[in-house]
Amino acid sequence: GIRRRQMVVGNWKMNGSKQENTHLLAEVMHSWVPLTQVDVAICPPFVYLPQVADTLQGSGIVWGGQSINPNATGAFTGEVSARMLSDFDAAYVIVGHNERRRLRGESDQYVAEQFLAAQREGLIPILCVGESEEAREAGHALDAITAQLSVVIEKAGIGAFANAVVAYEPIWAVGTGKSATPQEAEQVHKHIRQLFGDLGSQLTLLYGGSVKVHNAAELFALEDIDGALLGGASLDAKEFLAICRCAE
Ligand code: G3P
Repeated sequence: GIRRRQMVVGNWKMNGSKQENTHLLAEVMHSWVPLTQVDVAICPPFVYLPQVADTLQGSGIVWGGQSINPNATGAFTGEVSARMLSDFDAAYVIVGHNERRRLRGESDQYVAEQFLAAQREGLIPILCVGESEEAREAGHALDAITAQLSVVIEKAGIGAFANAVVAYEPIWAVGTGKSATPQEAEQVHKHIRQLFGDLGSQLTLLYGGSVKVHNAAELFALEDIDGALLGGASLDAKEFLAICRCAE
């Protein structure tokens, strides 16, 4: 993206073990050279947050959660709050990832509540939106994304996005090896910026969906793409770091 800070976030999803993480993080730290233009973050499964935090402390790479429950505390078995993530010095939290929307039935309303809860606790929400394959084939991709964003904009206000990140992740491109083409991604990103009016040009807007080192540079060169939300590529230290460097 042009004239904006760039960002690369690794979403480990439900991968890793203490031992695998030790190796992955050691390899990342070994080859890590702080970047001046790019914010880099890693979002591990909750239980590994202390391990990630301890290892990355002071490195310039920050960390975050993959989801939150919007309530502050209480009888919500199995859930984790924004405050708990803050307690581990998390900087970010992903909300509305399509895997949670689909597997856990998270609605646009619920995602909006998560977005607000994150900001209340000083976390920066990374709000994921993206259309299904059917919506794209029916020519409704932009409408689907507009609908998802509108609910959050209505609830939080446009101004709230000055302290938020939006990630466009077309569902058909996630984990499939079939990334959106640069033109497809750029078209959606431009559309998203327009939805935000005056704030649009300042919004941090990531693309996610099969970003690898071979397609990162091409995506990052586009005017409206400010970096990537990585799944698979964040589990390989060399690939992860190479993509971070592409964004610099
Ligand atoms: O949140 C990142 C993600 O959904 C993209 O996954 O494996 O296609 O890079 P992947």
